Amino acid sequence: MESYTTLSEGETMVLGAKFSERLRPGSVVAVTGDLGTGKTRFIQGICEALGVGGHVASPTFTIVNEYRTPRMGVYHIDLYRVNSSAEIRELGLEEYLSGNGICLIEWAERAAGFLPRSRYEVVLDFGKGADTREIRIEEIVEVPA
Ligand SMILES: Nc1ncnc2c1ncn2[C@@H]1O[C@H](COP(=O)(O)OP(=O)(O)OP(=O)(O)O)[C@@H](O)[C@H]1O
Ligand SMILES: [Mg+2]
Repeated sequence: MESYTTLSEGETMVLGAKFSERLRPGSVVAVTGDLGTGKTRFIQGICEALGVGGHVASPTFTIVNEYRTPRMGVYHIDLYRVNSSAEIRELGLEEYLSGNGICLIEWAERAAGFLPRSRYEVVLDFGKGADTREIRIEEIVEVPA
């Protein structure tokens, strides 16, 4: 597990951009942390670095925003408003997760039972200063039985 401290939203976006170099078609990134810790900023940094065109809006009202990059699809999924497994199935999370795109999931703990074992976990916390954030990144690798 790696730990980082960022001192501005820009630094969090740069961290996301650097992290994006590890992503491949089919990668799943589970992003968790309280309201306002910077989950969307981190994901915006990833998306910009992947070459998603235009501004990446917070998908607060749409749950899933789909993007294309020159190389693959990118799905920014925000589960904040999702309250049940039925709703998760309805929005097609399993299809996104099993596809060849990159899945970037905010409030991923709401879909704990749906996530593949192999994934990246990104956890954001508030730090000491108003603009300080503590960000942990862990790659979980499935060990074949
Ligand atoms: N170091 C930092 N990293 C990221 N955001 C920061 C930082 N310092 C201050 N901020 C501010 O914190 C807010 C983070 O907002 P953001 O939408 O990314 O959070 P979020 O975790 O996605 O929230 P939500 O749970 O509502 O989706 C922004 O207003 C940003 O300017
Ligand atoms: Mg957000």
